[in-house]
Amino acid sequence: MTKTICFANNKGGSGKSTTCANLGYFLAKSGKRVLLIDGDMQLNLSLSFFEEEEVLSMAAEEENLFEALKGQRELTPCVVETRYAGLSLVKSTTLMSQIEYELFTKLQREFVLKRCLKSLKEAGEYDYILIDAPPTLGIWVINILCASDYCIIPVEASPWGLFGLANMFDFINGLSDMIDTKVMGVLITKVDERKGYYRQTKETIRSFENIRLFDTVIHVDSAIEWAQDKSLPVAEFKKSARSVEEFKNLAEEVRDYGSRKGKHGKSK
Ligand SMILES: Nc1ncnc2c1ncn2[C@@H]1O[C@H](COP(=O)(O)OP(=O)(O)O)[C@@H](O)[C@H]1O
Ligand SMILES: [Mg+2]
Repeated sequence: MTKTICFANNKGGSGKSTTCANLGYFLAKSGKRVLLIDGDMQLNLSLSFFEEEEVLSMAAEEENLFEALKGQRELTPCVVETRYAGLSLVKSTTLMSQIEYELFTKLQREFVLKRCLKSLKEAGEYDYILIDAPPTLGIWVINILCASDYCIIPVEASPWGLFGLANMFDFINGLSDMIDTKVMGVLITKVDERKGYYRQTKETIRSFENIRLFDTVIHVDSAIEWAQDKSLPVAEFKKSARSVEEFKNLAEEVRDYGSRKGKHGKSK
């Protein structure tokens, strides 16, 4: 069965796109079939695998995420292969900046993405669909949450990061009548052990009831930025980088979620 996971947090810069890209890479590396959906007009997820020119030329093609949502068509024709086995991407476009407006006039507007994904999911071609959300909390992010089985919330270890997290929980709880999307976990990113605030962030999140914190944390790692500059997953840029092992561990935690192997996941 396909598991759909979104990466959401309305705080920008919390590591959503970075996590989505590198987790997708490692899930695919472990033999899973993964489809990435770039839901942010900044196209950072696409740029993680394709160079700027390629991303812009793909965006100019007829079939892309925006057009599919607008016409309420399935996403299959928008899928392109990345250079990594088992890892595909839904072409997106900067026109996603207008998606709120497009969705607003649709019937049952919260479920447009879910409908566009229906046959893809039913075909069972993918083990995971990973959706990178923009740093907003409008109808498009509601669509992303409605189409997802799980949500991973990357959060930066900072006071404002924690404030954003509280916002996110309120937002998701507010949708609970409509959806049964589970928060799979909170992931602390850009950790700098020298800063005491990291420990406080960890303790605060641990004190939240019913919220799981991933065992894995992602440390600040300059290799991530260099890799992104080259449109590469960090493991393809520098095998020995600290974050490589961390993203690999995160992929394992995600794979084990819901199985008996996972410490936290409830059997589903
Ligand atoms: N672990 C990390 N170490 C260093 N830089 C990081 C790390 N994670 C993300 N970044 C950088 O921080 C910025 C924001 O990350 P990004 O994944 O784009 O966040 P979001 O998608 O939530 O806005 C990017 O420039 C990215 O290169
Ligand atoms: Mg992003």
